[in-house]
Amino acid sequence: MKVLFLDQSGKPGGAELCLLDIVKPFANTSLVGLFADGDFKKLLETNHIPVQVLTTQAIKVSKESGLFSAVASLGQILPLIYQVIQIARKYDLIYANTQKALVVGAIASFISGVPLVYHLHDILSLEHFSQTNLQVAITLINKFASLVIANSQASKTAFIQAGGKANITHVVYNGFEPKNYQVEETEVKKIREELGINDNFVVGHFSRLSPWKGQHILITALANCRENVTVIFVGDALFGEDEYVKKLHQQVKDLGLENRVKFLGFRDDIPQLMSACDLVAHTSIAPEPFGRVIVEAMLCGKPVVAAKAGGAVELVEDGINGFLVTPNNSEELAQIINNYVEDKVNILEIANHARINASHRFNGDFINYKIQELLKTVISKN
Ligand code: UDP
Ligand code: GLC
Repeated sequence: MKVLFLDQSGKPGGAELCLLDIVKPFANTSLVGLFADGDFKKLLETNHIPVQVLTTQAIKVSKESGLFSAVASLGQILPLIYQVIQIARKYDLIYANTQKALVVGAIASFISGVPLVYHLHDILSLEHFSQTNLQVAITLINKFASLVIANSQASKTAFIQAGGKANITHVVYNGFEPKNYQVEETEVKKIREELGINDNFVVGHFSRLSPWKGQHILITALANCRENVTVIFVGDALFGEDEYVKKLHQQVKDLGLENRVKFLGFRDDIPQLMSACDLVAHTSIAPEPFGRVIVEAMLCGKPVVAAKAGGAVELVEDGINGFLVTPNNSEELAQIINNYVEDKVNILEIANHARINASHRFNGDFINYKIQELLKTVISKN
């Protein structure tokens, strides 16, 4: 099967890391076309996946954009669309992995006659997108996509509520390779020593720094946690959220938490860092479409506390394989962290159960098999 994968980002966000694993079985026959250069391209190359940067011109539309900028950007992307049409003619499928890739892929699919698949990584609601953006996405998907792969039931439900077609939409969770998350105790010790967190109870937060990911909630919670609790933030502002980063640093200063918070920036040793934590916190204040970090924490055998909304609710069963807290509620979060500090035995049982369960439920081979079967049905119908 020859697939032209399209993704707008040059940076490795969750949607891109998910795509990396989906593409691997297609490496010999397929191509990933990116609309920006960057570390994601390097990552694909390291994994021997053919990749081409199709444009380096920034497409000036954001999740909040209105009709005017949406239309204006169309002119800007015409050369890109033309290029994608030429390339697509050599492939069986166009697989759009992000919203801008959907716009380009939909028009290219219409003109070339190559069927379009859309991997929906977002909750298409007004909490995340402008009305214009939603309308454009839903219209293009309904008109041009043969198949929608939703990353969670929550994403699927929001899509249908916004007017998306239910009959072409299938939920497939992100897949993971469980053995990548098994980390030697010596490595864990080394990291804890390097970070100077040996004797502390360490809460890890793994996410790009962005207001809706709610890092500020964890900082507020920390002020109400026991003295031996420290927090590490792993991740960077990937999409220009520099103001938010400044605010986070100021908040830490204002609360006098400088010695209990570390910002580690973007890292590519997530399993090792997660394994060095006592607990992983997820604090999104808008519904999380899926939440890779939640599953990754489980695979590392770490207790996870997640914000009760969106896909997170499908991943975590409160008190069984992790904990759920009300989004945007730092007191509740602090309470759970303090409970953890006191009752380690019960926590470890929950984390161990989560690890075993997640390694079956999100097994990468099985997920890839499911996706391949879905793609085959699209090809056989065309
Ligand atoms: N991640 C990473 N390095 C970092 C921070 C995060 O590789 O410094 C990874 C993380 O392990 C996860 C992904 O980025 O696989 C984030 O995906 P998630 O679904 O949690 O959130 P998104 O950013 O896609 O909304
Ligand atoms: C998006 C979503 C995130 C999800 C990831 C992979 O980036 O924000 O929740 O886990 O895609 O599907």
